[in-house]
Amino acid sequence: MLEKKYPYYLANKAQTSKAWMDVLDKYSGKVATRVAVPDAKATEQAIAAAVKAAEPMRQFKPWERQAVLQHCVQRFTERRDELAYALCVEAGKPIKDSAGEVTRLIETFGIAAEEAVRTNGETINLEIAKRLNGYHGYTRRVPLGPVSFITPFNFPLNLVAHKVAPAIAAGCPFVLKPAERTPIGALIIGEVLAETDLPKGAFSILNLDGKHASPLVEDPRFKLLSFTGSQIGWDLKTRAGHKKVTLELGGNAACIVDADQLPRLDHVIERLVFGAFYQSGQSCISVQRIYAHESLYDELKKRLVAAVKGLKAGDPKKKETFLGPMIDEAAAERLHGWIEEARKGGGKVLCGGKRKGPMLEATLMENVRGDAKVNRQEVFGPFALLAPFKSLDEAIAMTNDSDYGLQAGIFTDSLANAMRAWNELEQGGVIVNDVPSFRVDNMPYGGVKLSGAGREGVRYAIEDMTEIRLMVMRES
Ligand code: SIN
Repeated sequence: MLEKKYPYYLANKAQTSKAWMDVLDKYSGKVATRVAVPDAKATEQAIAAAVKAAEPMRQFKPWERQAVLQHCVQRFTERRDELAYALCVEAGKPIKDSAGEVTRLIETFGIAAEEAVRTNGETINLEIAKRLNGYHGYTRRVPLGPVSFITPFNFPLNLVAHKVAPAIAAGCPFVLKPAERTPIGALIIGEVLAETDLPKGAFSILNLDGKHASPLVEDPRFKLLSFTGSQIGWDLKTRAGHKKVTLELGGNAACIVDADQLPRLDHVIERLVFGAFYQSGQSCISVQRIYAHESLYDELKKRLVAAVKGLKAGDPKKKETFLGPMIDEAAAERLHGWIEEARKGGGKVLCGGKRKGPMLEATLMENVRGDAKVNRQEVFGPFALLAPFKSLDEAIAMTNDSDYGLQAGIFTDSLANAMRAWNELEQGGVIVNDVPSFRVDNMPYGGVKLSGAGREGVRYAIEDMTEIRLMVMRES
């Protein structure tokens, strides 16, 4: 169902090229398709076109932006199966998760279609003293202008949607570099956008490798860079000059299981298994650290290990597969090395721990040292560690003992403990009675510490891509 070749998009138009890049089927390792690679001249043309499109995009009315987004919703719905299949092949994402991501893609564009006609301003009362009688303030939001996007491999559709759909709603032309290993989702989005009435130059989607993407980071004609990916984002920020920079950079998410959860442990375990191992843990909010109250630790461990051992691994194209490959063998090898390092440091492997090519077994460990990489760094793979705690104070301290802070979860029946978690966990978001691996596409999403800067979630991204313009009016 994949095309043999995919073009790139320059100023709304499909383009082929002399240079082509292979895209692999991540399970079989075979070439699945090829994508056209633009040269440096095309990159410059894309930027120049975005600059030229800034004014037409600003004038493109909210209802016209909404119509473009609604067209996308309709076309993605019609092409649902094709999108899910492409995702399954290019990312190795189990077909069930791939179908779920297509649903989220459609929802994200749907939310943006609603938000496109809601970019409201404020009336400000300026009459704060007698001398200001007759003065009134009004604000509205205006688009920033050309923006650049760099997206990761783990959600090739929906993390592209989280940049592209708000940009259209906000009225910003954009140049996007999708992940090299998973560009197909973005290119199908491009194909659909090319069917719309977006002003010429409103979008370009360039299949560039990291080395050739510098203009998207450094060129001062871009007013904002939005990057989702690894810690490399902090380096990009230093190279970005005066432009705004939004970074979504992952974490080592913790989930606390409070002492009162014994009666619903089966539900908690079902959610922990999902949170730690869906799409082979390749999510920025995958459960990496499970902290369970000492009174239920052994019981949770026993049942969790049994559940994880029962996960079906294999071909992501099969409906029954829960655990597919990691994005490539190097990623699986890297995490396998970290697991070995933790084991040598005294950690105990409770299940999993073995690797074959890009397939890494779903792995649980305990007694992991605080300085082990699987504890301190982002594992971004099918791994979680368990540790007991005595008091909520201790669980909060353990969760906060991290360089990251994207989202954390707590299962508890206690309103007081839920409120303490919300108050005291240093995170972008705290999820009560579910895993941190929870995201609805209209909620603010982003982290503190090394996890990033700024928030996505359609309305918040639109705020990022627009700025306030004030008008002061004096009664004559
Ligand atoms: C991410 O990996 O940051 C995205 C998680 C999600 O959208 O569910």
